[in-house]
Amino acid sequence: MKKISKAEIEALSLEELEKQIRHHNQLYFEKAAPEISDYDFDQLLLRLKKISPSSALLSEIYPDTSSPIKKTISHSSPMLSLDKCYEEKELLKWAEKFEGDIWATPKIDGLATELRYNEEGRLILAATRGDGIVGEDITENARMILDIPQKISAGPLEIRGEIYMRLSIFEAYKEGFANPRNLAAGAIKQKNPKKTKAYQLSFFGYDILGLPLKTEEEKFKLLQKFSIPTVESKKVNRKTMHEAYEYFLAKRAQEDFETDGVVFKANSTEEQKHLGFTAHHPRYAIAYKFQGDSGVTTLKEVEWSVSRTQVITPVGIVEPVQLSGATVRHVSLHNVGLMQKLGLRVGSKVLMMRRGGVIPNLENVIEAGEGPEIVPPSHCPSCHAATELRDDFLYCSSKTGCRRAKLLELEHFMKVIECDGFGEKLLEKLYDNGLVVDASDFFDLKISDLLDLERMGETLAEKLIGNIQAKKNLTLEKFIRALGIRELAKHSAKILAKEFGSLKKILSLQEEDLEAIHTFGPVIAREVVEGLSRKRGLIERLIERVQLIEMLPVPSPGKFSGKTFLFTGKMSSMDRSEAEKKVEALGGEIASGVTKDLTYLVIGSEGYANREKGNKWLKAETLIAKGASLQIISEEELLEKLG
Ligand code: IVH
Repeated sequence: MKKISKAEIEALSLEELEKQIRHHNQLYFEKAAPEISDYDFDQLLLRLKKISPSSALLSEIYPDTSSPIKKTISHSSPMLSLDKCYEEKELLKWAEKFEGDIWATPKIDGLATELRYNEEGRLILAATRGDGIVGEDITENARMILDIPQKISAGPLEIRGEIYMRLSIFEAYKEGFANPRNLAAGAIKQKNPKKTKAYQLSFFGYDILGLPLKTEEEKFKLLQKFSIPTVESKKVNRKTMHEAYEYFLAKRAQEDFETDGVVFKANSTEEQKHLGFTAHHPRYAIAYKFQGDSGVTTLKEVEWSVSRTQVITPVGIVEPVQLSGATVRHVSLHNVGLMQKLGLRVGSKVLMMRRGGVIPNLENVIEAGEGPEIVPPSHCPSCHAATELRDDFLYCSSKTGCRRAKLLELEHFMKVIECDGFGEKLLEKLYDNGLVVDASDFFDLKISDLLDLERMGETLAEKLIGNIQAKKNLTLEKFIRALGIRELAKHSAKILAKEFGSLKKILSLQEEDLEAIHTFGPVIAREVVEGLSRKRGLIERLIERVQLIEMLPVPSPGKFSGKTFLFTGKMSSMDRSEAEKKVEALGGEIASGVTKDLTYLVIGSEGYANREKGNKWLKAETLIAKGASLQIISEEELLEKLG
């Protein structure tokens, strides 16, 4: 067995770490030939859990994050990768190997998925790509994606395509996740399909297996006939291939999904057969990747900037580089730990990338060079208090509060409550004059306080006080977000407000309660609990001054309001998903398991007829025997209730 030391593990970049985990996981499960001990493998996983708690890889393999989906599915034929090229020359070379038309389709940055439909055209299985040979069963979760039909007008056949998250949906989550793809990967592996549904994932089909179709074009037409969304595609020839690439590249910025290139395929399936496969990719297809999102440049220096949470973040100043049409001059280096792991030095050659054309990121160091090492400052660049390094992050240790951090905290508060007029200069004056020390002081400000400040007239002072008073009604979500706790950004604040409904409840939460929320993870849970306890004083002062609007969950009206349903056994009058929709339309909720709080367990008529009791039925009977008020009803009884 090879040994991996703690130091070696900590020196791995996120990408290398994930690569190692995949590699050793594969050795263990597929080759039954592990190279490292279980203990060391766990150390790799724990490290990943620490530095990237939302990594999709964790839910794929880490037992503690209990990806519930364990069932594996063997693909009917391998789900291969695509060969890649970056230049027109290479693309032309590829296209020389066959004759006839070429089918061009944007490459969607999502999750490859296989859907199986039976002879009646019913969806019977959905699976992830996994390692290409074996994937995970995601059938029930895939049923929650509206783009995936439960029934089509042909079968048996298989459809392959991409599950993805629309950018407009991702918008609400973007502060907590690196990209829509990672979030979609987590969303599709939820234990409770209703949770998957909440993420509103989408699907594009690009292949049909099992029917004698002559061209890619025909496949796309048929997919559309099945009401499966397809991405706009073009039939091209060797002369117009590059034009199509330019066309899709230009359209990219307007699309509501991320694309990272164009897939070109021999249009004729007959030609495809002649071309065949390598072990890695089909020879009849190639992905021409979009360029320009990444570029190599030089790190000139590192500046240190204090955030509102007193974290001192390294910001790299680079030689200007063009990335997705914009000039980039600086890049966040995230934290000291990461910066050191990358081995950055002044003068290092670095690869920068704007993922999906958005925030610039330093991906890796291409050549460290001989320049001076970058030493984290020993004192806060703003208030000069000593700095301290904790868990890869450098902090300003000021106990009374670093001025810069305080000002940013006040600015954050005003931004969240959408109170206009309080720019940097004014906040500085208010803070330096002791008029506003924490956010609760805003609500005590009087016109006369402002009039004492330089360059402040009566009209402006009145307007500013008016602005503050107009923002006294705060929703729970805004209230907790405005506190400025690092991990309580838009997305997590929204979830907390929705799940728990009242400030009192939120303040009583323990780390375990928060860890139970899928998107949180242990690091965020701890941050939130600690943050709320640290801000207790501010919270109390604020509630005396503002009007908190707590939206306790309102049950939707309908005759099934407050009632929960669970289905078991095959139904004869309709699909289970159809029945569930009907129940929900009347205000009922679909439960995820049999508990004493369940209202009805509905037994599909086939099960009811032959009285074959499955686990759910037996469990319900046990609970009823113990006094639970839940009822076991037949499909017919449900139909009566539905009216
Ligand atoms: S054709 C060999 N068309 O890219 C598979 N794939 O890097 C040929 N992908 O796993 C698939 N958009 O899931 C095809 N328009 C598109 C695609 C696409 C995204 C994915 C696919 C595959 C991966 C390969």
